[in-house]
Amino acid sequence: MIFYFTATGNSLYAARQIGGGDELVSIAQELRKTDRHYQGDAIGIVVPLFEFDLPDVVDRFIATSTFDTDYFFIVSTFGMHSGGIAERVSKRLEAAGRHVDYYNTVIMVDNAIQVFDMEEQMRIDPEKHVDEQLEAVRADIAARRHYIQPATQEEVDFYEGYMANPAFDLHPRLDNPLYRLTDACIGCGTCSRVCPMRSITMEDNRPSWDYTTCAGCYACVHACPKAAIRFTKYQEPNPEVHYRNPHVTLADLIKAAG
Ligand SMILES: Cc1cc2nc3c(=O)[nH]c(=O)nc-3n(C[C@H](O)[C@H](O)[C@H](O)COP(=O)(O)O)c2cc1C
Ligand code: SF4
Ligand code: SF4
Repeated sequence: MIFYFTATGNSLYAARQIGGGDELVSIAQELRKTDRHYQGDAIGIVVPLFEFDLPDVVDRFIATSTFDTDYFFIVSTFGMHSGGIAERVSKRLEAAGRHVDYYNTVIMVDNAIQVFDMEEQMRIDPEKHVDEQLEAVRADIAARRHYIQPATQEEVDFYEGYMANPAFDLHPRLDNPLYRLTDACIGCGTCSRVCPMRSITMEDNRPSWDYTTCAGCYACVHACPKAAIRFTKYQEPNPEVHYRNPHVTLADLIKAAG
């Protein structure tokens, strides 16, 4: 059983490849249930990395669910710097009583469109050898390997440097509305359909965001066919070019959002 959260499909693709035929379960959908007790021979979490950590929504899912399993694993997909997430987050979860048997990372396309040009990101994607990484993780998990990816000094320094002086405030709050809508919006509603948190309602054919529930995942930004969703505070280097994992369809993302 693999739980996943995804905005642009990387983690859904990773979960599919790692899990083989295993059951894939959307964290966004599970969070709407009140009873979250899971049982399985092996239970995994495959999710994107947000600012060198688990997305808040995933932390909440882990903290408010119980997992009855002999083998608990986590895989974080990321695009540039992992900040040594595996070691740091495993220790944090252990301290909270959640034992982690395996934690690894997989570098894929970086979908952080507020800072990176997606055209450039897609161009360098083949250099990351994503499928080879996923196959190695799949084999580890099939063999029930016990491994927590060690944090290199370079990644620890990178993480500490960023945390001391964060370049962005990406946590949605009422006093931090992430997005603005441009006149290019055609009212198609795709943004609301891909939103895993149901944070977008369409009013008079225009999206309206609820920043008390938004996970700040960028699914809406990348899925918009008109590039009409822009950041309020940041100037994207190439806002017209969006990303979706090439193995994942828009329908897959809508289904994952539920
Ligand atoms: C809010 C946000 C923060 C991110 N922070 C980082 C980061 O600190 N380091 C990094 O390498 N990638 C970062 N990324 C990139 C994603 O982790 C990466 O592209 C991931 O594979 C996306 O997975 P998904 O397609 O399943 O959503 C960030 C993406 C978002 C949306
Ligand atoms: S996806 Fe884009 S064009 Fe469609 S309703 Fe949302 S913001 Fe408007
Ligand atoms: S509103 Fe956009 S960023 Fe927020 S959770 Fe929904 S899809 Fe993600």
